[in-house]
Amino acid sequence: MSQELWTAVDSYLCRTLVPSDEALDAALRASEDAKLPSIQVAPNQGKLLAILAQSIGARAILEVGTLGGYSTIWLARALPADGKLITLEIDPKHASVAQENITRAGLGGIVEIRLGSALETLPKATAEGHIFDFVFIDADKASTTEYFQWALKMSHPGSLIVVDNIVRKGGVTDPESTDASVKGIQRFIETFKDDPRVTMTGLQTVGSKGYDGFALALVNSV
Ligand code: SAH
Ligand code: DHB
Ligand code: MG
Repeated sequence: MSQELWTAVDSYLCRTLVPSDEALDAALRASEDAKLPSIQVAPNQGKLLAILAQSIGARAILEVGTLGGYSTIWLARALPADGKLITLEIDPKHASVAQENITRAGLGGIVEIRLGSALETLPKATAEGHIFDFVFIDADKASTTEYFQWALKMSHPGSLIVVDNIVRKGGVTDPESTDASVKGIQRFIETFKDDPRVTMTGLQTVGSKGYDGFALALVNSV
């Protein structure tokens, strides 16, 4: 099995089950025109995030790692009209492309982009007393453990936390890896594998984005 086949299957699934629309297309075009890295979730993954958020009745969502706001748009659309999504981004250029994409999608009223390192904006959001039903962690992988710790502080029993890119082409199995992203994910899994506050699983995925995976954690207690 090959990348070519995975891409063909994703293209079939997205064509049949994940119709695109003007706002999503425009967001991808604007991100490409601004030369942002093309590492956003695939359309069918974006829809998975939206289904997960909707299925728990999420009214408040936190995202760590905005990029051009593509996953943000999927998640914000899963919210009710009076919902709220806070998304954290360190790169001012990414944040400004995302702001335009989100506004164009008609989601400017429920999405707030917070510029800065998540290691600084997460403690601030915690101090403000925010509580989230759903968290998507998708920034620099080296600090995933810290992002998850802050996410737990802003969760309630029943909150769902999704972590992107936990497989990295299988690199996660290599205990000798020197890759900072791989080491960050390994540290995250080691830190929380026996933590009774969460029920967590990990899934491998293949598709148009290659070979990677997600962790899903249901919060039991905080
Ligand atoms: N969630 C997006 C993709 C995010 S890519 C989507 O699927 O559409 C990862 C993003 O995290 C990049 O935009 C990068 O600039 C941002 N990032 C990296 N380090 C960060 C940090 N310390 N704090 C906040 N954001 C960070
Ligand atoms: C990378 C980051 C991501 O969040 C992703 O989904 C894919 C790749 C990266 O930094 O290479
Ligand atoms: Mg990602």
